[in-house]
Amino acid sequence: MNSSFSAQNPPTTIDNANDVQISLHHVSKTFPGRSGWLNKITGQASSDFVAIEDINLDIKHNTFVSIIGPSGCGKSTLLNIIAGLSSSTSGEVRINGEMVDKPGPDRGMVFQNYALMPWMTVEGNIRFAVETVYPNMSVKQQKRVVKENIQLVNLTGAENKRPHELSGGMRQRVGIARALAINPQILLMDEPFGALDALTRGFLQDEIERIWEQQRKTAIMITHSIEESLLLSDRIVMMTKGPAARIDEVLEIPFPRPRDRTEVENHPAYLGLKQEMEDHLYRETRAVEEARITP
Ligand SMILES: Nc1ncnc2c1ncn2[C@@H]1O[C@H](COP(=O)(O)OP(=O)(O)OP(=O)(O)O)[C@@H](O)[C@H]1O
Ligand SMILES: [Mg+2]
Repeated sequence: MNSSFSAQNPPTTIDNANDVQISLHHVSKTFPGRSGWLNKITGQASSDFVAIEDINLDIKHNTFVSIIGPSGCGKSTLLNIIAGLSSSTSGEVRINGEMVDKPGPDRGMVFQNYALMPWMTVEGNIRFAVETVYPNMSVKQQKRVVKENIQLVNLTGAENKRPHELSGGMRQRVGIARALAINPQILLMDEPFGALDALTRGFLQDEIERIWEQQRKTAIMITHSIEESLLLSDRIVMMTKGPAARIDEVLEIPFPRPRDRTEVENHPAYLGLKQEMEDHLYRETRAVEEARITP
């Protein structure tokens, strides 16, 4: 059974509109080029750059969606627009029907480079997020929320360490705890395990699967790993190369939950889906290389 959909007839519209939590409608982003006489005479001038074009996608409540595509195609650009950290040039993003134009406590973000405050302890980094989002929460309750989330990501004992005293995996656990501590409806993750060694990455993927089973928050994760996206996702959005990147295909992932790595890999649909994703990434990455070497 082929569980994918074609881009010509994208699976972006969900029949029951009430199920839709995040809706991307004709989202495009163009970065302005550099003009002006100074840029021209110093050779710095550049033209406008269309990063993503006409992205349409509906995401249901409590689903885990991964975005995969060649490097530089516009994945972070898209996630930052959903996060409200950047604005689209045209089109709109709606969450529960409300237009997104800035970040909000309904969205928690996990960054690839951790983005922790280096002078604060583990506890301090997480507490700062909770205090900022819930200024009226009692100190006692803030402490309880921080403690629960430190436990959730298995960092108990490291509360008083500063980021430079932590391994990459531990730093990323702080990033995840900080995003979850504000109790967002939606978890946004930009290559959360990209900087980690394979073993740590595997442990953290299992942790995310365990936490997701407990909380079932809507999640959008950017990844370069086919195996990671197959382990965690309900749907995988495959993007074309840029410029003007768009959604090529959306795969529906049928593996039962809760998921176990070995069971997932032995599922009859696993190898077919993996092959389809490899073919897509190979095709798009080769197109990037061809565009680069063709004058
Ligand atoms: N502020 C900016 N100004 C101009 N161009 C930008 C800006 N930010 C991103 N771009 C360009 O937009 C394109 C998409 O960038 P983006 O970071 O979204 O890609 P990505 O898919 O996340 O890549 P990667 O997989 O390497 O993280 C790239 O060509 C990048 O150079
Ligand atoms: Mg990126």
